[in-house]
Amino acid sequence: MEKVNVAVVGCGNISGIYLENLTQRFHNVKVYAISDLIEENVQAKSRQFGIERIMTFEEIIADPQVQIVLNLTTPPLHYPLCKRALEAGKNVYVEKPLSLKYEDGKELVALAEKKGMLLGCAPDTFLGAGLQTCRQVIEAGILGDIIGATAFMVCHGHESWHPGPEFYYKKGGGPMFDMGPYYLTALVNLVGPVESVSGMTAVSFPTRTITSQPKYGQIIEVEVPTHVNGLLRFKNGAIGNIITSFDVWGSELPRIEIYGSRGSMIVPDPNCFDGEVKIKQYFDGEFHNYPLITENSANSRGIGVSDMARALLTGEKDFRASCKRGLHVLEIMEKIHESSDQHREIFLESTCEKSVPLR
Ligand SMILES: NC(=O)c1ccc[n+]([C@@H]2O[C@H](COP(=O)([O-])OP(=O)(O)OC[C@H]3O[C@@H](n4cnc5c(N)ncnc54)[C@H](O)[C@@H]3O)[C@@H](O)[C@H]2O)c1
Repeated sequence: MEKVNVAVVGCGNISGIYLENLTQRFHNVKVYAISDLIEENVQAKSRQFGIERIMTFEEIIADPQVQIVLNLTTPPLHYPLCKRALEAGKNVYVEKPLSLKYEDGKELVALAEKKGMLLGCAPDTFLGAGLQTCRQVIEAGILGDIIGATAFMVCHGHESWHPGPEFYYKKGGGPMFDMGPYYLTALVNLVGPVESVSGMTAVSFPTRTITSQPKYGQIIEVEVPTHVNGLLRFKNGAIGNIITSFDVWGSELPRIEIYGSRGSMIVPDPNCFDGEVKIKQYFDGEFHNYPLITENSANSRGIGVSDMARALLTGEKDFRASCKRGLHVLEIMEKIHESSDQHREIFLESTCEKSVPLR
């Protein structure tokens, strides 16, 4: 099978599952090279996945064999590294969020278009069995017209487990920029694009204490809101709300629920590929499970990269984890924060199409 050469930039925490899937599961890609500024990280991944070619970022973007640069660095590096790679004529797939700022994201999308390159953006969990099943439920009309949606991601932050959690509390971090992409991508793919947003945000704890190793006991100064509430007015008239928080010790809220004129649906965790889909139509006494329709229920991170490789191999321009959706999600997140600062509803500039369902 013809394969697309992917070079992975950033061999940190999330790279393991990508490298596992891209080397063992998705057969239309080849991990051509890996890169990290930390020698220990790149050597460990080289040994674990048998990838011999270790390169610097500059060597990667100068190498004509590299077809996709997979940017798995932390959020502040998404914009500058994607920009350099696109300028060098590379297709790029980047972890979420697309950039820290909507204006920067817009510039990347325009640059990709100008250069004729594909630009993809995580998350790709909406291609998993759980969220694809939810999509089918909606497309089949089982819920009727969609009138509302709720999304909740509340926890007490990542400093108890992530080895380097500082970035979660700096510009580009916070619960909305960290976890919002999963929830908003799911909502946009299920309900449709958003027209306007309102937001209220707070910093409940101005400092955080790291309790993971190796930085146990270090204090982080919090620079971004960590309790973020947003209202969403979708283009199709539905109204939604999203709460993302690193300030909550416990909750029994659902992840996502979708409400239609004929019934309701409980959507599985959009940070995962599987999970239970439950529906209750107007004539049902209670919720019941709806069977999952596709096989991608294991952790399939990288499926978006593989889908982008499919587009490159077939010459099609369309692929599912597109930067247009990543840009729309980025604008929603940014404008929820701005709405809170400005005390007003904000209408969005960007939009996107729902992606074609996986069959
Ligand atoms: N950690 C998770 O569970 C998780 C889950 C989903 C998505 N993500 C996303 O994945 C991205 C990375 O997160 P992470 O947790 O793996 O971060 P991390 O800090 O563990 O890893 C990032 C790596 O990028 C490397 N790097 C930075 N600049 C580089 C350069 N110029 N060339 C080569 N390597 C470079 C760093 O040395 C580091 O090893 C973030 O955008 C995050 O939002 C993380």
